[in-house]
Amino acid sequence: MPANDSSATNPPLATPTAVRLPHYTKADQAEILGDGDDPFGVAETGLTFLPKDEHFGIRHGHGHGDQGDRLVAHAGLLRLRVAIGDVETEVAGVGGVAVAPDVRGQGLARRVLGAALDHARTMGPRHALLFCRPPLVPLYQRLGWHPLDTDVWVEQPGSRLVAMPLRTMVTPLRDDAAWPPGPVRLFSLPM
Ligand SMILES: CC(C)(COP(=O)(O)OP(=O)(O)OC[C@H]1O[C@@H](n2cnc3c(N)ncnc32)[C@H](O)[C@@H]1OP(=O)(O)O)[C@@H](O)C(=O)NCCC(=O)NCCS
Repeated sequence: MPANDSSATNPPLATPTAVRLPHYTKADQAEILGDGDDPFGVAETGLTFLPKDEHFGIRHGHGHGDQGDRLVAHAGLLRLRVAIGDVETEVAGVGGVAVAPDVRGQGLARRVLGAALDHARTMGPRHALLFCRPPLVPLYQRLGWHPLDTDVWVEQPGSRLVAMPLRTMVTPLRDDAAWPPGPVRLFSLPM
């Protein structure tokens, strides 16, 4: 069969689909980012982060089932209780966003975050929230996220409340969602 005939029936590898992952382990993360000490570049904050409850990923390869393929992208999600000013509510916390170094710049973060946010829209919260290093703010803005300029307080082990040193970004999950004014406080560790 001519090589280009298969493109009619098989999705091209350049646009793989993001799927919900039944689990996401340290080994899965290492498959994407390697097993370095600080794959997200946040160790200097000294913060302790929560694991995520739901996981989305993109597999890439030439195998015919999920098992043969390599995991190349991930985004995690969990519900978080927060106060925004005097409003107590919940947000969808996004974290563990990762794309393998050799396939960055191809839209995989956009795609895997899109799958995570599609799911977040079914969870109830009106907004999603994430923390990132300052150099990533323009990338997330490009994906429709907005940086917050208010103080953000998060819990740390030993019931300590600390000011989040990373940038906080939010994105609406519904058309009519407006972010309330005021400082933000997570009633948990950050994700
Ligand atoms: C951050 C990371 C996930 C990005 O993955 P990626 O697959 O390269 O991102 P994408 O290709 O989907 O790019 C997303 C969008 O941001 C844009 N973008 C990338 N760098 C940008 C920049 N410096 N300024 C503005 N926009 C930028 C891209 O053009 C793309 O927009 P487009 O789809 O409209 O072209 C990846 O670099 C990574 O895994 N880094 C290490 C782990 C990490 O730091 N994770 C973040 C935790 S918060």
